[in-house]
Amino acid sequence: MQLRPFTGTYLTDPGVVWRELLHAPADVHFADDLGLWLISRHEHVRRAFANAEAFSSALTLAPVYEMCPEALAVVARLDVPPTTAAADSPVHVRTRGALRAIFANTAPRVADEYGPIVHRRVAELVARIADRPGGTVDLMPEFATLLPLLVVVDILGVPERDVPRIRSWADEQIALIWGQPDPSEQVRLAQGLLDFWHYCQALVARRTAEGATGDDFVSRALRHRAGDNTVLSTAEVASMAFNLLVAGHETTAGLLAHGLDRALSEPGRWARIAANPDEVPAYLDEVLRFGPAIDGWLRVTRLPVTIGGVTIPAGARCLLLIGAANRDPAAFADPDRFNPARTARRGHLSFGYGPHFCIGAALARLEARVALVRLAEAMPELRLAPGHQSRFKPNLAFRSHRTLLVTKPRSSQRT
Ligand code: HEM
Repeated sequence: MQLRPFTGTYLTDPGVVWRELLHAPADVHFADDLGLWLISRHEHVRRAFANAEAFSSALTLAPVYEMCPEALAVVARLDVPPTTAAADSPVHVRTRGALRAIFANTAPRVADEYGPIVHRRVAELVARIADRPGGTVDLMPEFATLLPLLVVVDILGVPERDVPRIRSWADEQIALIWGQPDPSEQVRLAQGLLDFWHYCQALVARRTAEGATGDDFVSRALRHRAGDNTVLSTAEVASMAFNLLVAGHETTAGLLAHGLDRALSEPGRWARIAANPDEVPAYLDEVLRFGPAIDGWLRVTRLPVTIGGVTIPAGARCLLLIGAANRDPAAFADPDRFNPARTARRGHLSFGYGPHFCIGAALARLEARVALVRLAEAMPELRLAPGHQSRFKPNLAFRSHRTLLVTKPRSSQRT
């Protein structure tokens, strides 16, 4: 079969394709347009995430197509050591352990360590939008993408003036790995990736030279390693910064965009968010289930794996279709209905599962909750612009809105 992720139905309405896959007789499918095995049932996707022995992460961040030789030559100069998302055991156990020590990843720690940053940045952006004259505003660049980016640069101790280039580098990295750029574009994107990596290396070198005394992520990581490469090398610290700057913002931007899009489309939902902020965590979990910010994620088999009578050979790249798994009727009753009151909503796989479970899930949840509630409180009259239609960037993993145009009244109250 063919998935055709960059055109047609999968791009505009992936739920239709997920339903077809889930209702097909075979449990797994080979997409010959991509050379990838598709795993779509909830139980199989969960097991694949859980089983790092059979499903390696080594190629999780490797492009999904054959790169042209010129782009490959640029990429060959990227000496980024694998940490967390692209690492397998034993490296993964070590780097994830270090990351958990340095980066807050439970709800209480996140509220304590990053809560003040999140509240300050949300207030700043909401006030900026409120102060604008009435008319059309694109919430993607001005809110959904910018907020998580500002939060992650604050956490990492990156100067705010560098936000525009980090935003472009992150977009380019996502397009290079999971998009379909033509060869000349591949070279440009690969060069951007190399510049981004050098930037992260320079950031670590700067913090090292300053004595790593600050409270930012990089200084904390340097203090944690205490000069011991068996804990973490300085290149691994740079690699973590390189990954967090992308993982920490494009994903949460997707969650916010999906959450805003639905809240502003569904009659009464926007007012309800402002009136009942306690309901927002459940609402966001259903947003995550129904339209995950990452709806497909890669693994490569280390050994032959049999699923539903089909054997996937060793060395095969597999796309774990998180979006499909989240709509599997075997896991969720009436799965194609958006229903924040459902009890099983936390069984979704939008943050992965098992050893690589998202380290930023608690941060993403906090950011999205505070952002939605504050914006709804400050601008109850915000509406989607007439004729708005959700359109996504062509990408195999990240389901990112191109725009989110809203109309705002002339003056809005401040938070
Ligand atoms: C809605 C927002 C987010 C979504 C949907 C999301 C999704 C995911 C998924 C699916 C994985 C599993 C990857 C795998 O199994 O290979 C993952 C891992 C990861 N995420 Fe997130 N993420 C989000 C937010 C964040 C944030 C805010 C951060 C950090 C600031 C972050 C950092 C990471 C890291 C470092 C990993 C790798 C963990 C490991 O391999 O051990 N993510 N995320």
